[in-house]
Amino acid sequence: MAGNPAADTQRLLVLGAGAGQLGLLEAARDRGLFVVAVDRNPAAPGFRFADRRAIISVEDEPQIDRLAAAERVDGIIAPGIDWPVAIAARIAERQVLPHPIDPATAVLATSKLRQRERFAEAGVPHPRHVVCGTIEEAGDAAVGFGYPCVVKAPDRQGQKGLVLVREQKQLEAAFRLALAESRSSVVLVEELVPGREVTVNAFSLGGDFTPLTVTDRIVAEPPAFGVALAHVWPSSLAPEEVGAAVDAARAAAAAIGVENGPTYTQVVVGERGAHVVELAARVGGGHDAELCRAVFGVDLNGLALASALGEQVEPEQLRPVQQVGGGCTRFLVPEPGVLESVEGVDESASADGVLWVRIYPEPGAVLGPLRRGSDRAGAVLALGESREEAVARADRAADCVRFVVADVPAEAVV
Ligand SMILES: Nc1ncnc2c1ncn2[C@@H]1O[C@H](COP(=O)(O)OP(=O)(O)OP(=O)(O)O)[C@@H](O)[C@H]1O
Ligand SMILES: [Mg+2]
Repeated sequence: MAGNPAADTQRLLVLGAGAGQLGLLEAARDRGLFVVAVDRNPAAPGFRFADRRAIISVEDEPQIDRLAAAERVDGIIAPGIDWPVAIAARIAERQVLPHPIDPATAVLATSKLRQRERFAEAGVPHPRHVVCGTIEEAGDAAVGFGYPCVVKAPDRQGQKGLVLVREQKQLEAAFRLALAESRSSVVLVEELVPGREVTVNAFSLGGDFTPLTVTDRIVAEPPAFGVALAHVWPSSLAPEEVGAAVDAARAAAAAIGVENGPTYTQVVVGERGAHVVELAARVGGGHDAELCRAVFGVDLNGLALASALGEQVEPEQLRPVQQVGGGCTRFLVPEPGVLESVEGVDESASADGVLWVRIYPEPGAVLGPLRRGSDRAGAVLALGESREEAVARADRAADCVRFVVADVPAEAVV
């Protein structure tokens, strides 16, 4: 770097320092950026990659706005996390910072309901759903779709307020839970789309949508409905099914108006074709960008950083060059309890094909049973000659890790 390095160093504000931001924060640090990270959790694992930590909520827009101004940042980004995507876009606009998407697009991308209104207008297939404000409306909707059906808050992520309702007697509790999590006064009741699910990780440049990794999303059973246990590349779907998922994700991005930057689209592919469950205008929160880099050599976190800083991205940077036959990110699910220590991490990390092992919580954290994404306690990324080998290696590496927990003290149980 010419001249005064300190003065030249670019400054980036990253919303979130949790598990979903680890890869991007590490990439930002490795690029030599001055990283200001925001998280209300002082023990957030991503803070170790930050030059400055701000212990504030990623949803506290006025405080983040002031922080961005005070830190004179050159860009702002919300990786792996939905609601702050709109906050980042608005602050970028107010402070005249470069940004891949405008606030209106970001608002669409952060509302399951509003993005589906656009999908409906544009003919993008998505689950049939009814917006419900009362239990009576929810009951009618559920009868219309039949059981099992899905009830969810329209503006949450990480399975907050998400329930698979198998029978009518479970509906009221599901409705109340989703309503309690909803930021508005409504919930979505929707059909359970049958099929298998993939994530389409992509990057757009000037309206040109380039699909990158399409990964199988392996999900948990209820009561942890929808929680990803693994992302596996390549997908085991037939090429034409993968193609249909990519087409649906492309159409979804166009419908919402995402012309630049990363997208993460959840697509269920079944007998009725590909249905978009949701699109996020950001990199995924399950180490998706790291898997993409490992298998394709495309530095998706680096590209997301570039777009947040207003740098030119060249189409060549999106060209996949296959590095391996398969890759698998497997999440680590602990026994519930108070975390005392984590054993076997070195053994896991040095196993064949393992790129890294990440542990999220610190000792002392209270680990609950698996209900939502945030109950996962870590992940391993393994590569192999084939999809099957990568999965087997990831499973073996995951088995090496042991979360040593103690009983939760009675007074801590609420
Ligand atoms: N209508 C549906 N039909 C089939 N599966 C669904 C449906 N809605 C949700 N799911 C399942 O639940 C998962 C999470 O759904 P959704 O994205 O709506 O919730 P979320 O809280 O935003 O979760 P995440 O943060 O993981 O994206 C989906 O990836 C899918 O596995
Ligand atoms: Mg989602």
